[in-house]
Amino acid sequence: MLGYLSWRRHRRFVHSPGVLADVVTDIQARGFDHITVTGDLTHVGLPAECRAAAAWLRSLGKADEVTVIPGNHDRYVRADWSETVGCWSEYLAGDDSRIASEPMFPSLRVRDSVAIIGLDSAVPSAPLFATGRIGEEQRQRIAVLLDQARQRGLFRLVLIHHSPLPRGHRWRKRLTDAAALLRVLQRQGAELVVHGHGHKRRIDVVSTSQGDMVVVAAPSASLVGLGRGGYNGYRISRTGSGWRVEVSEYAHRAGKVVAQECREFELSRP
Ligand SMILES: [Fe+2]
Repeated sequence: MLGYLSWRRHRRFVHSPGVLADVVTDIQARGFDHITVTGDLTHVGLPAECRAAAAWLRSLGKADEVTVIPGNHDRYVRADWSETVGCWSEYLAGDDSRIASEPMFPSLRVRDSVAIIGLDSAVPSAPLFATGRIGEEQRQRIAVLLDQARQRGLFRLVLIHHSPLPRGHRWRKRLTDAAALLRVLQRQGAELVVHGHGHKRRIDVVSTSQGDMVVVAAPSASLVGLGRGGYNGYRISRTGSGWRVEVSEYAHRAGKVVAQECREFELSRP
């Protein structure tokens, strides 16, 4: 009920279908190889919302070209998985997951030289909280996936709705086991972590046993306000010493999407 009131009084005025449509048009015009969506496709995760989000995903692209993870708003209410987030199962599933049942996270998709590893931090939280949690089982499994992907020489892209960084969000919105997840990421190494949830652009570089890891807070694709809505584009290329990642910011301004800053990161690998 509190989530519904939040939507009635606040969220429906700050998230715009028009902004989202402009952003999607821009993404599709640029012809990216792959699209990732880091959760919060709905306001409170009701079945009708999830069905609408499924239709939106189909308009965004084919399931093998679009990877989705859930956000806390998609799990606001306890409801049957198949009638809610399960509507997106084709988009959530890893390459070897069974579509018919709830996918086990972390999911793994490999596209060219990139291992896309999806985590599920979306858990129902107490009233007025928007916390997330990964849990021990996902941490153990992602440690194995990161190590295997490194041995295969793949670029490791981790998707998670909440930031894994300490103070990545305000306390009531934090990932409650962020410190434990960050220890795994720093021990196994990853090249790029992309998360949502905060609606603010931010890039951090974190040291790991394998060298630097770039952590990107993606903006909301539907947020109203000059330059607040938008998305990021990533160009990933192999270099003689490791990887190069270019992060381009695209922002919604005055009815259109414009390219902003592009930052480049050289990631040396042992
Ligand atoms: Fe969120």
